[in-house]
Amino acid sequence: MVDPSVAKRLVDSIIADFPDHKAGTRPIHTIGIGVKGTFEPSEVARSYCIAEHFQPRPDPVKVTVRFSNGSGSPAQHDGWNDVRGMATRFHLGGDRATDLIAMTLGGFFVRSVDEFFDFTKDALQTKVKRESPWCKILDMLSLKPPLQNPPPGQTQSGDAGTLAYADKHRFAQLAVFQAGMLGAPTSYVRAVYHAVHTFFVVGPGGVRRPVRFSWKPVAGVETTKDTIKAPADDYLQGELRARLEQWPARMMLMMMIGEAGDVLEDPSVPWPARRARVVMGTLTLEEVAADQLADCEKMSFNPWRLVPGIEPSADPLLQARRDAYEDSRKRRGVTQCPFLPK
Ligand code: HEM
Repeated sequence: MVDPSVAKRLVDSIIADFPDHKAGTRPIHTIGIGVKGTFEPSEVARSYCIAEHFQPRPDPVKVTVRFSNGSGSPAQHDGWNDVRGMATRFHLGGDRATDLIAMTLGGFFVRSVDEFFDFTKDALQTKVKRESPWCKILDMLSLKPPLQNPPPGQTQSGDAGTLAYADKHRFAQLAVFQAGMLGAPTSYVRAVYHAVHTFFVVGPGGVRRPVRFSWKPVAGVETTKDTIKAPADDYLQGELRARLEQWPARMMLMMMIGEAGDVLEDPSVPWPARRARVVMGTLTLEEVAADQLADCEKMSFNPWRLVPGIEPSADPLLQARRDAYEDSRKRRGVTQCPFLPK
């Protein structure tokens, strides 16, 4: 059982990193857009997991997805280097629902709640430093990695602080390095999103497997670095709207299966790339939700909103997220209170 004061301190520590945080909004992943669609399980999904949304059914499962920018600032900067989020709610009928929360980093910066507190102290947004081409050459001549310049127009970033943290803590290096290289996607549906933690899925006959989930875009990955002209700083929502008016967008739900010896409780450690991956189903995004208040701003996702057949691992960060998201929901004045297992 996590100490109840921890949830409050976790949310406070995130808010402290974004001095322009606006009360009533999410402290992180603040800018987002809600989208409606459906999920169709693959033929093999049911042989790995008994959860309701992986079973054959007459109609596909209805879903609501909230895509977001990772920053906790209320200012929209789509063109900045940032993590993006994809929070999916599978509506199973009646009051039943399950959530899958994912983001564009393959792993997390830290392994425990105490490390999270230290990390957020260092991750303050500071003025971006740029290096001239001459400085880059000098860096390379002295065998120092040249500073990665952020996309044009970006003025603030947490990179300096997170790099300083990674210099002191080896476990943070992979995620910090990846976060610095993410850039900006050309579309919310042209990025890969990872649920990061290990979960257990239960198959028919009670077979229990450790797994990690990710969403892969059928349209492929593309960032603004791949395009000739950098788009304006508020293009992602308009792009999605225009795209879905033309044609639905699809994402594949991939499940990586852990093997003996794989790390189950530390989201900073990736699993070997050769682990088996199973396609669990296809998400079809059909339209931007008409009511963005109800289907985006006033939603509250939680990685613990699970159904029989999917279980959380003992990862201490996953454990802590349960109450932190609840604390944040209450602060935002979101009254919706669906069942969350203890
Ligand atoms: C201890 C670690 C973490 C803490 C304390 C934390 C905390 C939070 C909080 C408080 C929110 C706002 C919730 C709300 O107001 O509804 C949030 C949102 C979010 N977090 Fe985390 N988080 C953590 C780790 C992660 C990880 C590992 C992921 C990767 C899957 C993640 C992905 C997201 C996403 C995508 C959102 C936006 C959800 C939405 O659209 O409503 N977080 N986080």
